[in-house]
Amino acid sequence: MHLGQLLHGKPQADAPGALKHALAYEICSKVVFAGRRRRLFGRLVELAGVGAGDRVLDLGSGPGYLTALAAQAASPGGSAVGVDPSVPMVGQARCSRATANCSFEVGRAEALGAADGSFDVVVSSLAVHHIPEESRGRAYAEVFRVLRPGGRVLLADFRPPRGRLGRHLVGVTAGEVMRDNPVDRIAPMLAEAGFGSVSVSGVGGFLHCVRAVKPGDGG
Ligand SMILES: C[S@@+](CC[C@H](N)C(=O)[O-])C[C@H]1O[C@@H](n2cnc3c(N)ncnc32)[C@H](O)[C@@H]1O
Repeated sequence: MHLGQLLHGKPQADAPGALKHALAYEICSKVVFAGRRRRLFGRLVELAGVGAGDRVLDLGSGPGYLTALAAQAASPGGSAVGVDPSVPMVGQARCSRATANCSFEVGRAEALGAADGSFDVVVSSLAVHHIPEESRGRAYAEVFRVLRPGGRVLLADFRPPRGRLGRHLVGVTAGEVMRDNPVDRIAPMLAEAGFGSVSVSGVGGFLHCVRAVKPGDGG
């Protein structure tokens, strides 16, 4: 059984979906990032351009680490909300990271409950590969809908290694979904959803980050 199956809590979970074991994920995340999580996720918040007063949505927020950093960057006057379909993840995030301007809700990226234009920034880390592939277009359309004109999105997901050995190791330890993660499709799909100024950058050697802006409001 590999890590993905353990965290999903079901042996056949080489497929996308909600993660069941929130505390185990939080511990794995600390170990895998080996003390670099604050710096790398802080960089994502910077790349997304989160500033005071911004209303931020974090898709697939898990235990809420990125959401909490975004909420700090949005202070004073702003807030961050994390959305995740996993009830245990949302429970863990609420226990450990909810504050006056940082909250968590159960929900799916492809069917957001938020009103049109209700966010300035949407961020996401390591969650796109969990959205079923056939629903990703719908999820990007939802991001477009909930952002205000001129709003920004930053999606960061795992870029598999290019070498055979590295790919093999990722497949064995984390599963095929991560080994074959099609991160190069994120940018064209955001453009298809209507976003402009789409740009790609790498963070930490394994995060593929796509930034884009919803046209309008001079954006
Ligand atoms: C690998 S975790 C990443 C958590 C967090 N963003 C981080 O970087 O630590 C992926 C998260 O995506 C969530 N997820 C699964 N399907 C989703 C969907 N359709 N929409 C949004 N999030 C989803 C999982 O429940 C899980 O908490």
